[in-house]
Amino acid sequence: MIARLIETIEIRKMTNDDLRQVIDIENKSYDFPWSEAVIKDCLVNNYDCYVAGQDNIFGYMISKITNQDSHILNLTIDSDYRGQGIGSNLLDLMIKECKLHRSNYIYLEARVTNTIARNLYQKFGFRSIGVRKNYYRNKLGREDAIVYRRNLLI
Ligand SMILES: CC(C)(COP(=O)(O)OP(=O)(O)OC[C@H]1O[C@@H](n2cnc3c(N)ncnc32)[C@H](O)[C@@H]1OP(=O)(O)O)[C@@H](O)C(=O)NCCC(=O)NCCS
Repeated sequence: MIARLIETIEIRKMTNDDLRQVIDIENKSYDFPWSEAVIKDCLVNNYDCYVAGQDNIFGYMISKITNQDSHILNLTIDSDYRGQGIGSNLLDLMIKECKLHRSNYIYLEARVTNTIARNLYQKFGFRSIGVRKNYYRNKLGREDAIVYRRNLLI
């Protein structure tokens, strides 16, 4: 039997060697991608950075996990591999890590127009707690961010 891709994908900490592929996926995925310098900074400053994949990277998550509030800053899957559960696996791992670190809440923002991401977060128990007006740049100007919070205490 042929194993489904998702069953064979490893999730591990991001290293410097992954940067090239991570930056390529970032640039492919967004009209206004994070710069290479910002992504490098996250690694250097010990943010909690994960990749899905071994030699070939299918996606990544950049987060900050603490014993109080935790934050998801970037979750991106290569466009060729979306809809196969990889984003869910990264989110699942993040929630488990936060529980291990006794975090109370996880926070993140999503573009109001990003229905796919919003579906994903709601499926994982994130609830909308506010709006940041004109938070993101887009091709037409600006758009709002929805702020989501996942309560880990209940
Ligand atoms: C958002 C993103 C990370 C989701 O990752 P993914 O690996 O494709 O998602 P999964 O396959 O794990 O899907 C999980 C859930 O997301 C939602 N979802 C995924 N693809 C969807 C689609 N095409 N339409 C609607 N909802 C969708 C569904 O709720 C899905 O659960 P279901 O399969 O039970 O219906 C990915 O689409 C992505 O990288 N998008 C571009 C970058 C981005 O927008 N990042 C988020 C910034 S806040």
